[in-house]
Amino acid sequence: MYSQKMMDHFSNPRNVGEIPDADGIGSEGNPVCGDMMKIFIKVEDGKITDAKFKTFGCGAAIAVSSMITEMAKGKTIDEALSITKESVAEALDGLPAQKQHCSNLGADALHKAIADYKSKHSA
Ligand code: FES
Repeated sequence: MYSQKMMDHFSNPRNVGEIPDADGIGSEGNPVCGDMMKIFIKVEDGKITDAKFKTFGCGAAIAVSSMITEMAKGKTIDEALSITKESVAEALDGLPAQKQHCSNLGADALHKAIADYKSKHSA
């Protein structure tokens, strides 16, 4: 049911934690399952140099958080905005149909963190 990649990111999640002096923070929750995700980003010269997450949620939500923070690191904020729920699900070698909303949570939390960064750093 779950891919090996998804199980790897669930069992051994990357980038768990907070960035105390984050440049952008995005939170997203799903009222149906009650899961919550918070993503922190650090930005230097328009590039995401670090990303971390805190997720209270299902295994797929944790794997998505781990993968999406890995994908965001090293990208410009515009490149990171093009990360979608589809691209993160694809990077995990797919998610079961009933777990598609978990990838949505990750993409929305990342996009909110970028919007937060932009609102604080607009010239
Ligand atoms: Fe809701 Fe996974 S079951 S985020």
